[in-house]
Amino acid sequence: MTKLGVNIDHIATIRQARRAIEPDPVAAAVLAELAGADGITVHLRGDRRHIQYSDVLRLRESVTTRLNVEMAATAEMIQMALELKPDQATLVAERESEITTEGGLNVIGTPESVFKAIETLTNGGIQVSLFIDPEQEQVDAAADLGALMIELNTRAFSEASPKSPDLAGPALSRELTKIVQASERGRKKGLKVLAGHGLTYRNVRVISDIPEIEELNIGHNIIARAALVGMERAVREMLQAMGR
Ligand code: PXP
Repeated sequence: MTKLGVNIDHIATIRQARRAIEPDPVAAAVLAELAGADGITVHLRGDRRHIQYSDVLRLRESVTTRLNVEMAATAEMIQMALELKPDQATLVAERESEITTEGGLNVIGTPESVFKAIETLTNGGIQVSLFIDPEQEQVDAAADLGALMIELNTRAFSEASPKSPDLAGPALSRELTKIVQASERGRKKGLKVLAGHGLTYRNVRVISDIPEIEELNIGHNIIARAALVGMERAVREMLQAMGR
């Protein structure tokens, strides 16, 4: 059965929009776990646009499944990870102006700093995953770096996914084939294979059906749906609070 890691970054995005105290990512994590999530994922970005250091600190205390922190392989982040001690650290490529993580980390001919980051985190008792594009050369390079896990970037697949399956074009099967082949390669190389980025209720099934993929990390689409399925109840509760 494919595991689900729920990325709760955008609960913090809503809070940070007002620099308020609600909604609290810790509460969201508790609810996600009660609903059956196998893990909680957050991206502690260099610009702290959503998740804050203090959130991760509190999540470390409250998460009862697995806590996965996505981060750039910078000295500052490595130090924070060693202090925060998540179960897993996922090394990602991060650009300041990007709206979300754009591409996988290029691990071919990686600088010594990435190798060092993997070593330091692993020695610190943190399992390391590398977020890479679904390409054979990237998978091989990740295995050579001594990573335990890879997370395959499903962004291109998601972007090729139409609103209706009837509208699927050749790009979708091309992107799906890349993910299938990279998953098989990863498993053959002894890596634990995860996947994520841009997955939705509509396109997730073909990915969760890939036998080599053990876990998916999904965020935006779950938070987007939560906002809508919770809308009616939230309005009713406000009317009630007004005495109506
Ligand atoms: N995996 C990684 C490495 C990511 O950076 C993100 C986005 O933060 C996700 C998974 C989740 O992507 P989405 O929010 O589109 O589901």
